[in-house]
Amino acid sequence: MSAPRRFRIAAIPADGVGKEVVAAGREVLDALAAGSAGAFAFDWQEFGWGCEYYARTGRMMAEDGLEVLRDFDAIYFGAVGWPGVPDHISLWGLRLKICQNFDQWANVRPVHFLPGVRSPLRRADETELDWIVVRENSEGEYAGLGGRNFAGRGPGGEVAVQSALFTEVGCERIMRFAFDVARTRARRKVSSVTKSNAQQYGMVMWDDVFDRVAQDYPEVQTESVLVDAMAAKFVLHPEDLSVVVASNLNADILSDLGSALAGSLGLASSANLNPEGRFPSMFEPVHGSAPDIAGQGLANPVGAVGSGALMLEHLGLPEQATRLHRAIEATTKAGILTRDLGGTATTEDVTKVLIDSLNT
Ligand SMILES: NC(=O)c1ccc[n+]([C@@H]2O[C@H](COP(=O)([O-])OP(=O)(O)OC[C@H]3O[C@@H](n4cnc5c(N)ncnc54)[C@H](O)[C@@H]3O)[C@@H](O)[C@H]2O)c1
Repeated sequence: MSAPRRFRIAAIPADGVGKEVVAAGREVLDALAAGSAGAFAFDWQEFGWGCEYYARTGRMMAEDGLEVLRDFDAIYFGAVGWPGVPDHISLWGLRLKICQNFDQWANVRPVHFLPGVRSPLRRADETELDWIVVRENSEGEYAGLGGRNFAGRGPGGEVAVQSALFTEVGCERIMRFAFDVARTRARRKVSSVTKSNAQQYGMVMWDDVFDRVAQDYPEVQTESVLVDAMAAKFVLHPEDLSVVVASNLNADILSDLGSALAGSLGLASSANLNPEGRFPSMFEPVHGSAPDIAGQGLANPVGAVGSGALMLEHLGLPEQATRLHRAIEATTKAGILTRDLGGTATTEDVTKVLIDSLNT
């Protein structure tokens, strides 16, 4: 028998329910590896970075954290943010620091409707719905450009500028990525989202790049939709969606809407990819640290476990990813649901059934 493929994974649970769902995800992934008859295994190393670390050290992660993470095969992330630490400090100090320094420019966020989960969309009862939000993850509205000034004028006199950065390189690479994803899907369509009627520079350039890139993919249907209209389309005509490509902020908002329509924010998974493989990619649920339910065993682990499936695909284990997706579907179909989905199961209950379902 050949030696198992071993993957070095950095786990960063961070804050709140991040700790609970990463623990659950690790358990499920380890059970999958244990059942692989020695084909693959994970070498986990956990890092206790986040808001508690910040309270002790004044930093969200170790000073040499990026250097340490660089050599891992992938990063498995929970969620960052906790009352007492301003959200922009915690987000920029950990999650965005990793995404931006590791050039994880493609954020893939599937919107997946699961059996046994009631969607607030009536249409979901009679139609197969399934689409992917591809989010530009390196620039746009989250480029971190701007400043605050004139504080000396006194209360009420301050000025703040927050600029969005759009580059042709950034737009083109995320659009090509979206088109390449669309090529692999039954419905070959890319919907580009902007607000180019109001934002006449960056977003008009985005539209121009989209039209140019689209010419290289004649077999893929396209549309350009304003973000407000796309929000309505998510609700009214979701069957018309396949791949939705949007800027950092617009895709962030739309993917939360998508996961809420699929039943809960707790279900949504995501991959922050450095497609060239120059840096490790990072896999995380879409949701935040949920301080309102943290520490009570109520967190839905499905988003984190689904992110584990995206990690398996990235590591070149597509059959194992499919096994994990099937286990998720079997679990929700059996009605083992956490409170956010109207059920009574705890994080631990769902994790146990997920593991039991791996061989179904
Ligand atoms: N990627 C990230 O790390 C990330 C993303 C979003 C928000 N945040 C941070 O998280 C903190 C809380 O933010 P928020 O309240 O706006 O968003 P949130 O996603 O933490 O919570 C929004 C709602 O969804 C529920 N929810 C979230 N995850 C759930 C899960 N796994 N199971 C069941 N219910 C779940 C919460 O209980 C809450 O009612 C803030 O500090 C914010 O900055 C971090």
